[in-house]
Amino acid sequence: MDKNINRSVCFFDSGIGGLSLLYECVRRLPCVDFTYFADNYRVPYGALTKAELINIADEKFSEISKLEPVAAVLACNTLTAQCIDYLRLKYSFEIIGIQPAIKPAAALGGKCVVLATPSTAGSESLKSLVEKYGSENTEVIACPDLAYYIENNINELNSDGVKRLLPDLKADSVVLGCTHYVFAEEIIKDFYNCPVFDGIEGTAAHLCEKIGIFDHRCERIQKISFSGGDTVKNRLIFNKLLMQSGVNSQK
Ligand code: DGL
Repeated sequence: MDKNINRSVCFFDSGIGGLSLLYECVRRLPCVDFTYFADNYRVPYGALTKAELINIADEKFSEISKLEPVAAVLACNTLTAQCIDYLRLKYSFEIIGIQPAIKPAAALGGKCVVLATPSTAGSESLKSLVEKYGSENTEVIACPDLAYYIENNINELNSDGVKRLLPDLKADSVVLGCTHYVFAEEIIKDFYNCPVFDGIEGTAAHLCEKIGIFDHRCERIQKISFSGGDTVKNRLIFNKLLMQSGVNSQK
């Protein structure tokens, strides 16, 4: 690949949920430009029907396709579960989704609990994933208010506020089936007192593999742009992730 031509990857999530995945991909792919599309004022997507989600995805993808990206990432389990097949048929660029990391969690044995939005929890896609990788001890539970709570309280995430919205049960492993939940991962781990899986690293690795671009140096400065929804909030949260990791946040 020509080192002076930056390739571009677009991300799409309802709100802030996909920012941890964006961070992981930005870190791994310093020679790629990223545009993060969001729709914060319409969170939660997890309460919408498949037809409503496809309409929204269609709208966003007509903008995304104008950027001629090398790939688009559905940084949202709900959009992946309900729209990825439809979008892949319609667009010729690579489309990557995020799915709950059931395989490594179920492999630990015991009771595996998958927390997801109502839309993901009721999807055919999650049903087949559980059939393929889960065990008879894998249970999917919808958390109707959790993504909305995290989206709207991200600057002062309150442990009691999150715990109040978690199903009260015993688990040997927990899978985060919504990218918003990743921001509350430590609280969730503390609540269930067991390993928690988020699928961020696996999805980032999958993107690198699919587009065949890896962590090599680039002579140009990487560009990170934000589009749609509350761009100020999304940039701020993204910069916080960069700061927490010790990277300079001038982007
Ligand atoms: N972050 C999204 C997901 O991974 C959706 C959250 C929502 O808007 O309901 O499912």
